[in-house]
Amino acid sequence: MPLTGSNKTIRFEKGESRRMIEFKNVYKTYPNGFTALKDVNLKIEQGEFVAIIGLSGAGKSTILRCINRMHDITKGTLTVDGVDVNSLRGAELRRYRRKVGMIFQSFNLVSRSTAIKNVLTADVPDMGFFRVLFGIFNKEQKMRALESLDKVGILDKAYTRCDQLSGGQQQRVALARTLNQNPKIILADEPVASLDPITARQVMQDFVRINKDYNISILLNIHHIDLALQYCDRVIGVRAGEIVFDGPASTITQEQIDYVYNGTKAPVLGNGE
Ligand SMILES: Nc1ncnc2c1ncn2[C@@H]1O[C@H](COP(=O)(O)OP(=O)(O)OP(=O)(O)O)[C@@H](O)[C@H]1O
Ligand SMILES: [Mg+2]
Repeated sequence: MPLTGSNKTIRFEKGESRRMIEFKNVYKTYPNGFTALKDVNLKIEQGEFVAIIGLSGAGKSTILRCINRMHDITKGTLTVDGVDVNSLRGAELRRYRRKVGMIFQSFNLVSRSTAIKNVLTADVPDMGFFRVLFGIFNKEQKMRALESLDKVGILDKAYTRCDQLSGGQQQRVALARTLNQNPKIILADEPVASLDPITARQVMQDFVRINKDYNISILLNIHHIDLALQYCDRVIGVRAGEIVFDGPASTITQEQIDYVYNGTKAPVLGNGE
């Protein structure tokens, strides 16, 4: 049976896109009273590849955590794929979380398990207690997991333990695990921060391919501005909880970047709406 998931790739035209994420006047105040997001307004369409940049503590991770409902917003509305995220409870919330894949700097893999077992864990929320307990996955699930590994080019590592893989390969396993849950959105929190420059570029290229081939919206927090500009379509600059730049990566100026990081000049909004 062929495992070349890429053969079955369906390409979507950008024109077919629809609104995936919308923040309307969103505030996030943490329980200790610190307001990490202040009046955030943001619209992201299906299939966009967006970099979020800003100083440490600016609120980049908070934006991602609000989208995947790790945190509740305090004020305003946050709509994802037509759903008011803060209204979700129980099974609805679990279903929602499967639509939103999450990738971290630290990969978050079970290092003593094989790549395929890590990818199969994406299926666990839908499985019965005993099948999870005994790790019983059916043939169809295993084939799908192998296809996911194939999509990121590491099918040959399927039965290798993750602690024997390089950082770049581990990040690919994490990406395969996310793809295996068939997400509409991928949120990546500094996915290349712990990788060397060459591997970081390879992983960025994986994101580009996945974004283009499957029309999945990707939001990625990143400190490497050069990588953001080279690989992402749009840049959102966050400073002290506020969006101070939103525009195409191809047109951002050094002055605008400086404002995001230093705040030395007047805020300059791009034309990203
Ligand atoms: N659980 C929390 N409770 C209280 N304050 C928090 C919490 N999480 C984050 N913060 C604060 O909110 C602000 C934004 O944090 P966030 O993690 O979103 O920043 P960031 O832009 O992702 O930074 P970094 O680049 O260092 O990852 C920071 O001042 C941080 O200290
Ligand atoms: Mg962060």
